[in-house]
Amino acid sequence: MAEFKSLAYQIPALPYQQRALSSHRIHWLFWFEWHKPLRFGSLWSGCLGSKAEEISAFSHRGQNAVKLGTQQAMWKIISDMWHPQTNPSGILSVGMAENTLLHEFLLEYIHANVRLTTTHLTYNNGSMGSDELRKAVSHFLNRKFNPFQQVEPEHVLMTNGCSSAIEHLSWTFLNQGEAILLSKPYYSTFIADITLRPEAVVVPVEMGDLDPLSPQAVEEYEKAAVKFEAETGKRVRAVMLCNPHNPLGRCYPRETVTGLMKLCQSRQMHLISDEIYALSVWENKVDGNAPTDRFESLLSRDTTGLIDPSLVHVLWGMSKDFGANGLRVGAIISQSSPDFHVAQRCLSLSTFVSAMSDQITASILSNDAFTDAYIEKNRELLSLSHEYIVNCFNKHDIEYLNGCHAGFFVWINLGKKYLQRHPETDEGQGELTDVVFQRLLAQKVYLAHGIAFGSEKPGWFRVVFAHPIPWLEEAMKRIMQAVE
Ligand SMILES: Cc1ncc(COP(=O)(O)O)c(C=O)c1O
Repeated sequence: MAEFKSLAYQIPALPYQQRALSSHRIHWLFWFEWHKPLRFGSLWSGCLGSKAEEISAFSHRGQNAVKLGTQQAMWKIISDMWHPQTNPSGILSVGMAENTLLHEFLLEYIHANVRLTTTHLTYNNGSMGSDELRKAVSHFLNRKFNPFQQVEPEHVLMTNGCSSAIEHLSWTFLNQGEAILLSKPYYSTFIADITLRPEAVVVPVEMGDLDPLSPQAVEEYEKAAVKFEAETGKRVRAVMLCNPHNPLGRCYPRETVTGLMKLCQSRQMHLISDEIYALSVWENKVDGNAPTDRFESLLSRDTTGLIDPSLVHVLWGMSKDFGANGLRVGAIISQSSPDFHVAQRCLSLSTFVSAMSDQITASILSNDAFTDAYIEKNRELLSLSHEYIVNCFNKHDIEYLNGCHAGFFVWINLGKKYLQRHPETDEGQGELTDVVFQRLLAQKVYLAHGIAFGSEKPGWFRVVFAHPIPWLEEAMKRIMQAVE
C-alpha cells in the first residue's frame, strides 16, 4: 500500500487563502470528492520542479493539471474497486456517493423500454438537451418538486452531470477571482466545479459550534462575505447550498433558506440550490431525534419580497435519486433569467448530454408509474441500509451524527474510536484523519476524508451506506480492523 502514503501537501497559497486555510493541510487525494485548493490558477506555479521543463509547452492551467493529476491517488482507488466476484481483492468503496441499491431494477427498465432511432445519431435539438428530454424533466419536476411557478422546458438546461452544471453557473456569474460562499462541511468537489475552469474562488464559511443548517448560520455567511470583499476588493457573487445536505444528510429548515434568500437579495448574490438528493429522503428508524424538516425545493418557494427570482437557480440530475452516476445527466432550472439560457448556447457545446443518456432519461422521467415505484422502493431500501449501518456504529461505540434522513451518508467520528485504542496519536487537524485514512486504505476500504470535505474537526469521515447489506457488512469488518 506504499502508493497510498499521505499526499497531504502544504499549498503555497495566496494571502487570502493562506488565512482561510491556516490550520488545514490540503489533500490531493480525491478527484470526485477531494479537497481542492479554494482557487486554482497560480497555486502551483513554482512547485513543479523539473516536471515544469518537460511540460513547458503547456499553459499554466495545463501545468497545474499535470501536477494535480500526478498526485491523485483517487484514480488508483477507482481502478481497483472491490467486487465480490470479479475483484474480491480490490478496494471496497463506502466513500464515493454512489447508490447501487436499485441498479438491476433500473437496468431492467432501460433494456425493456429504450430504443434508439436515427435521430439519436444526429445532433438532434442541439447541445442544451433534446426537446423531449427538457419536456420530460419539466414534467417530472412539476410532479415531484411542487414548484411555485410551473417549470417549462425553456427554464431547463441539460448538462452532462451536475458537476458541469455548477461550472456553467460559476463561469457565467463570476469574474476571475470573484467568490461563492460555501458553508463547512461541504461536498468537496464543489471546489473544483466552481473554481477550476472558471478561475473563481470559494470562500468556505466557518461554522464553529453552530449547526450549519440552522437559521443562525446565515449571519456567518454575511460575515464571510464582508470579510472577503474587504480583504480582496472583489465581489462575492453567490451562495452555494446543498439541500438535502451532502455530507450531513439533512434538509434545510425553511427559515434558513428564507434568511439566505434575503441575504442574497441584499447583496445581489445568486442563490444556487443543489437539490441532487431531493427525492432520496427517507425514514430514519433508529435515532429518536431525527429532525422534522422535510425537503422543500427552492423551486416551491414564493420569492415575492424575499429575492429577485432571476437570482434563483436549482440543480438536479440522474446521478443520485436514480442511482445513475454513469449516465452523466444534470439539469439547471433557472426560471426567471432568460439571458442565462441564451449564454449557455455557446457554453453547452462541451457539456452536451449524449443521445443515449438523453433518450434513457427522457423515457424514465416521463413514465410516472416507474418513477413513483422507483422513488418509493429507493426510500425503503435507503432507510433499511441506514438502519443496518447505524446499528453497527452503535454496537461498536462509534460516534456518528444523529438524525440524518436524506442522501446516502452518515458522518462518523472514526478518529475518536481510533484514539481510544491509540492515545499516543497526534490529534492535530489533519494528522488524525490522515492516520485513520491510511489505515483504512491498508485494509482496502475507502471512506471520504472529512478534512477534504471541509470538516472543522479532525477524525471525521463520510460513510456511504446506499449499498446492499452484505457490502456494508464487509465494509464494517474492514473499518473495525483499521481502527483496532
Ligand atoms: C451535492 C452533489 N452535487 C453534485 C454532484 C455531482 O453530480 P453529477 O454526477 O451529476 O456530476 C454530487 C456527486 O457526488 C453531489 O454529491
